Amino acid sequence: MTAVTDPVPTYPMTRGCPFDPPAELARIRDDECPAEPGVARVRIWDGSTPWLVTRYDDVRAALADERLSADADRDGYPAASRSRRVRSRGRRRSFIMMDGPEHARHRRMLIGEFTVRRIERLRPLVEQTVTALLDAMEAGENPTDLVQAFALPLPSLVICHLLGVPYADHAFFEAQSRIMVDLTSGAEASAAASDALQDYLAGLVRERLDEPRDDVLGGMAARVAAGDLTVDEASASALLLLVAGHETTANMIALGTLTLLHHPDQLAVVRDGDAAQVRAAVEELLRVLTVTHVGRRRVATEDLEIGGVTIRAGEGVVLAAEAANRDPRQWPHPDEVDVTRGTNRHVAFGFGVHQCLGQPLARLELQIAYPALLRRFPGLRVTVPDSEIPFRDDMAVYGVHALPVAF
Ligand code: HEM
Repeated sequence: MTAVTDPVPTYPMTRGCPFDPPAELARIRDDECPAEPGVARVRIWDGSTPWLVTRYDDVRAALADERLSADADRDGYPAASRSRRVRSRGRRRSFIMMDGPEHARHRRMLIGEFTVRRIERLRPLVEQTVTALLDAMEAGENPTDLVQAFALPLPSLVICHLLGVPYADHAFFEAQSRIMVDLTSGAEASAAASDALQDYLAGLVRERLDEPRDDVLGGMAARVAAGDLTVDEASASALLLLVAGHETTANMIALGTLTLLHHPDQLAVVRDGDAAQVRAAVEELLRVLTVTHVGRRRVATEDLEIGGVTIRAGEGVVLAAEAANRDPRQWPHPDEVDVTRGTNRHVAFGFGVHQCLGQPLARLELQIAYPALLRRFPGLRVTVPDSEIPFRDDMAVYGVHALPVAF
C-alpha cells in the first residue's frame, strides 16, 4: 500500500541551507503554473490550513491592509505555536497583537522614544558599550562564544538603559525571553515565563510611581499616574520592548557576522567601508537573513483578494517576509549577499501599522557593532564547521544559539 501524502505543505518548512529560507518557499513563490501563483494553503502545527503569501508585492500590500487583523484572539488566527496562542490572552496582550485605534493608542505613547533623532542620541552609549564588550572579549578566553561575549549583551545592555531595567537582572530576563521565543516551549511554561517577566516589569513601573525617573518605564508610570494606562497595559508594552529589543538584534549580530565570515569580500566592505557603505550592508544583511523567519501572522476580518486568491473572512494568513525578501521580481540575484546593493526596500522590519517600532535602534546597533568587531579582530574566525553550529530552527527568531570564534 502506498502512503497517502498530504498535498498541503507543512509550514514552517525545513531549511536545506542554514543561510537560506527553505527551498519549498521559493518553489511556491516562483511557480507560475498554479491559477494563483505565489499564494498557497499550508498546514501549521494545529492542523489548520491558513494561506501562505510569498511574493514581495503581495506581502507588502497585505501588511498594509487593514482588513487583516493581528489580533491573536480572533478565531482563525494562525498562531506560530501552541504556547503563542495561549500567551496572547488577557493581561499578556501587547500592542503587536492589537488593531485599529487600540493599537494606535498604545503605539503612539512610545513613538517619541524611538524616532531616528531620539535614538541618535544613544550613539555614544552604543559606541562605549561596544568598546567595553570588545575590550572584555580581548582580555578574556580565546576561543569564545560570540553570542555570549558580544551579540547578546550589546542589545541587552542598550534596551535596559533605554527602558530603565537593571542589567544586573539580565540572566533572569534573558532566560524567560528565551522560553517565550522557543517554538517548542510548552504552553504553561511559556505563559509562566511571560507572567514572571510581566510581574517583574510591573514592579519596576510601580517603583516609578513613587520615585519618577527619566526612562521609558518612568514615562509609562507617568501615564499610569495620569490614568491613561493601567499597570498591566504598561508592563505588557514593556515586555514587548524588552524581548523584541534584544532577541532580534542579538541574532542579527551573530548570524550577520557568520554570514560575513563566509563572504570575505563583503566582510572587507563592512570592515573598511564608510558610513554609507556600512548602512547599505546592514540593510542587505537584514534582507537576506530575515531573522523573524516564521511569517507575519494575520486573520481576515472581511473577504479580500491577495495575489488573485479570494481570502474569506475568518481565514488565517501567513505573510512570509522571509520569502518576499528573496523575491527575484524585486531584487536581481536575490539569494546572493551583495552589500553594495542600492535601494533595498526589504520587509525585514515588516510594513504598515505594525512596522517595527525599534528599527532606528536596531539599525544604530548593527551599524556600530559589525565594523567595530571586524576592525578589532581582523583575524576573527569560526572554530567549527557549519554542521556543528546550533542554528535556531526551533525559535521564532532565527540565528545561532552559540557561535564559537577565535580572534
Ligand atoms: C515589530 C523585526 C528590533 C520593537 C516588528 C516586526 C518585525 C520586527 C518584522 C513586525 C511584526 C508584525 O508585523 O507582526 C525586528 C528585527 C529587529 C527588531 C528584524 C532587529 C534587527 C527591534 C528592537 C525593538 C523592537 C530593537 C525595541 C526596542 C518592536 C515592537 C514591534 C516590532 C514594539 C511592534 C510594533 C507594532 O505592533 O506596532 N519588529 N525588530 N524591534 N518591533 Fe522589531
